Amino acid sequence: MYRNSYVLVDEKKLSNNIKNIMENYPGYKYYFGVVKGNAYGHGDIVVKTMIDAGINYLAVSSLDEAISIRKYDKDISILCFGYIKKEDLEVAYKNNVTLTIISSDYFDDIKDTDFKLKVHIKLNTGMNRIGIKRRDELERIIQEIKDTNLILEGIYTHFATSGVYDTYFDAQLNKFKELTKNIDLKNIPIVHLYNSLSLVKHQGLEFANGVRLGIAMYGFSASANIPDNKLPLVNLKRKIKLKGQEVSQVNLNNNLKLEKVMSIYSEVIYITEIEKDEFVGYNAVHKAIGHEFIATVSIGHADGITSAFKEVKINGKTYPIVAIYMDYISVLVDKEVKVHDKVTIIGDGLSFSSIAANSHDSVHHLLVSITNRLPRIYK
Ligand SMILES: Cc1ncc(COP(=O)(O)O)c(C=O)c1O
Repeated sequence: MYRNSYVLVDEKKLSNNIKNIMENYPGYKYYFGVVKGNAYGHGDIVVKTMIDAGINYLAVSSLDEAISIRKYDKDISILCFGYIKKEDLEVAYKNNVTLTIISSDYFDDIKDTDFKLKVHIKLNTGMNRIGIKRRDELERIIQEIKDTNLILEGIYTHFATSGVYDTYFDAQLNKFKELTKNIDLKNIPIVHLYNSLSLVKHQGLEFANGVRLGIAMYGFSASANIPDNKLPLVNLKRKIKLKGQEVSQVNLNNNLKLEKVMSIYSEVIYITEIEKDEFVGYNAVHKAIGHEFIATVSIGHADGITSAFKEVKINGKTYPIVAIYMDYISVLVDKEVKVHDKVTIIGDGLSFSSIAANSHDSVHHLLVSITNRLPRIYK
C-alpha cells in the first residue's frame, strides 16, 4: 500500500455483532451470512470470522461469488440466491453450492440434471423480482422434485419492506402462508424468510428455522439507530398511518449493540491558503469568503466518494468537504491541520447511515460503492 488511504475492517466488531444478534434472536437452527457484493464491500475474507462467530450457512448472488468464497472455507454450505445456468451446474456441484429454484421454467430446465444438487425454492410473495408465484406451480415442483437428483433442502422468500410504516410485510407473509398451505413445511429442512430488518422488527415465525443476516452483521440496524426519545413519535406515526388495518406487531426497540465494521481513512497531502473571492475545485465550486485554509486529501471519486459525502474529521474536529475530484477531496480546514494528518472519512461519528439518509440512498449501495482501489486492512 503506497497511498495512505484505506478501508479498515474491524473483524472483532463483526464477530461481536454476529454473537450479539444470535444472543438477542436465539433459537434459529440456521444463521445465514449474506456475503454477496464482496461481503457488502468488506472483502470475502471476512467469512472466516463470520463462521467462527456462529454463521453456519453463507449466501451469495452468483456462482462466481460462491467460488470466490469457497477459497476461504471448503465445507460450509453456500446458497446462491441468483440464477445459475444449466451448463454451470457441474461447477456448482463441485463447489458444493446450493441452488435457488427461481421459477417453474427454471425447474423444468434443470430437473433432469445428473448432479445431486441441494436446492431451495424461492417464493415470490410481493417483491416481484424472482420466485414462484402460484400455488399449483409450487406444489407441482415439490411433487416432481422427488423423482429428480435435486435435493429439496429449503424454501424461502424475501420481504420488500421492513413492515414498520406499511402493511406490505403482512401481505407478503400472508402470501407465503397461502402459497404453502397444502405443504407440510416440517418436511423441508430449512425455512427462512427474514433478513436483518425483518428479524429485528418482527416477532419470530414458528414455522421458520433460518434467518438471513446481511446489513445487521456489518453494524447497521435501523431500529438501533432510532434514538429512544424518538420512539414514541415513530410509534404514534405508525398508528395513525395504519389505523384500522390489520398489521402484525413490530418491535421498534431492541437490545442490539451493533458496531459499524467498516471505517475509511485518508491523509492530508497538501495545504494551501487562499484569500477572499479565490476559488477551489472544478467549476470553481467553492468561493472563499475570507482567508481560508484548504487541505487536499488523497481520496476521491475513484475510491467511491461522491457528493453525498459532506464532511470529514481531522484530529477529532469536523470540517466540510468543498470540492471532489477523481483522486482528491478539498476540505475547508483551519491552521491546526497539517500535511500528513490522518483524515477520517467514515468512522468516529461519520456514518454511512447519515450519508444515506441525506442523499436518499441506501447503506447497502454506499457500502458496495467503495471501490477496490482502497485496500482493505483487517483488524
Ligand atoms: C434474498 C436476500 N436475503 C437476505 C438479504 C440480506 O438483506 P439485509 O442486508 O437487509 O439483511 C438480501 C440482501 O439484499 C437478499 O437479497
